[in-house]
Amino acid sequence: MKKVQESFNDYQRGYGTQDSPNWRDLAAQDSREIPVTLLEENSPNLGSAKIDPRSYIDYQEHRNEVDKMWKRTWQVVCREDEIAKPGDHFVYDVAGMSFLVVRTQDNEFKGYWNVCLHRGRKLVDKSGCGATGFRCAYHAWSWDLKGNLVYYPGKWDFPDVEAEKFGLRETAIDTWGGFVFINPDVGAKPLAQHMGSLPKHFDQWPLERRHTLWHVQKRINANWKVGIEAFLEAYHVVQTHPQALSSVAEHGTQYDIWDEGEAAFSRLITPTAVPSAHSSDGTPLGAIGDVWAILNGLRMDEADTLPENINDRASLAQWRRDSLGEMTNADYSSLPDTMLLDSIQYWLFPNFCPWFGEGLPLIYQFRPDVDSPDSCFMDVWMLVRSPDKGPAPEAPEIIRIGADDAFEPHIGAMGQIFDQDDFNMPQVQEGLKTWPGDPQGCTLARYQEIRVRFLHQILARVLATP
Ligand code: FES
Ligand SMILES: [Fe+2]
Repeated sequence: MKKVQESFNDYQRGYGTQDSPNWRDLAAQDSREIPVTLLEENSPNLGSAKIDPRSYIDYQEHRNEVDKMWKRTWQVVCREDEIAKPGDHFVYDVAGMSFLVVRTQDNEFKGYWNVCLHRGRKLVDKSGCGATGFRCAYHAWSWDLKGNLVYYPGKWDFPDVEAEKFGLRETAIDTWGGFVFINPDVGAKPLAQHMGSLPKHFDQWPLERRHTLWHVQKRINANWKVGIEAFLEAYHVVQTHPQALSSVAEHGTQYDIWDEGEAAFSRLITPTAVPSAHSSDGTPLGAIGDVWAILNGLRMDEADTLPENINDRASLAQWRRDSLGEMTNADYSSLPDTMLLDSIQYWLFPNFCPWFGEGLPLIYQFRPDVDSPDSCFMDVWMLVRSPDKGPAPEAPEIIRIGADDAFEPHIGAMGQIFDQDDFNMPQVQEGLKTWPGDPQGCTLARYQEIRVRFLHQILARVLATP
């Protein structure tokens, strides 16, 4: 028997069934207290307007985004642990522009426009370690880590150059949750204002106490919004990830948005270890077994080796608390079941998706790589809880893969899911260029695709800002 979620009455926001409850019903049975921020619900009716396909494919629309948004918004460059020592530096390319982030000898972070102020060569070609300064490969103009011009040959021939006015051009820079953010606009409002109340949601699960297990960067032949939107809803799971239906209750996903004026973020919570209402062969215990098998690196058909003492979400969560504790030498005793099992993902305008809890401890970011609406980078980090005592392991090298490369050989079974998602993206980009003009744009579900609509509404607002 299907039932309507009862907490709202002006439009339907999902449903659950007896064997496949929605997240609210599961949360009510959690063995631990759930953080209040996780229990907040906020999904107003944002309407049913169509989304103009040109937003994804039109070069002028893309240029508008570059000038009005990418040049003046906060964006993640890297993890702090990816530039762990003085002189370590990171080259960050977005929409055909290049920026350079460096850790100075004073352990401060600095962000620069990655361009030589002599005749415009890109100053640093790629990320590296232990630099004492940056020398342009063309005519040797050189800057120290703090951006001071320290050397240029033939000084006598540049009467108009005053070294103190030729410092590298800075960006705004700040950190949150172990991430380094830049904003190309030095006059921008602070990062804290851009994030609004999002950090409060991460109070009890701090991202700065985690370290990078792996970081994969993939080029994708699709607009950055096509990329990120593939992860803002669970509505696609039925067709795109059918193997997950036995243990992922996509239909019971909760979606929320927060529009705080200067800050905009959203969230989804998808229950796992519960069969989907769309699964033809799902049972609650089968769902528990499937998740247990996956977490143990077993095949799903080995799920029948599920230990007898694991027979519901609470016991599965307890097993996970114990095994994670052993693996990482950290304490998980207060984490609620939902934060050990479910897929909880936040989005911060414009392109940053930090997941929440141990269910899927990932980070996503999408951005245009070159000056084109047709391609983007997808960055994915897997973050693990750092030991409660002692140093965290060093960050590994980034794995960079091309548009035709698969995630799976690099990160195993989870990569299969990303590959299924990525398979659609270039096809969406092609399809959008084939739009017949009627209907007048893409159609979005009112509730399940609310986060996609929200992204477009906030983007439109930002682009309309003078
Ligand atoms: S362009 Fe860099 S030194 Fe000439
Ligand atoms: Fe997906």
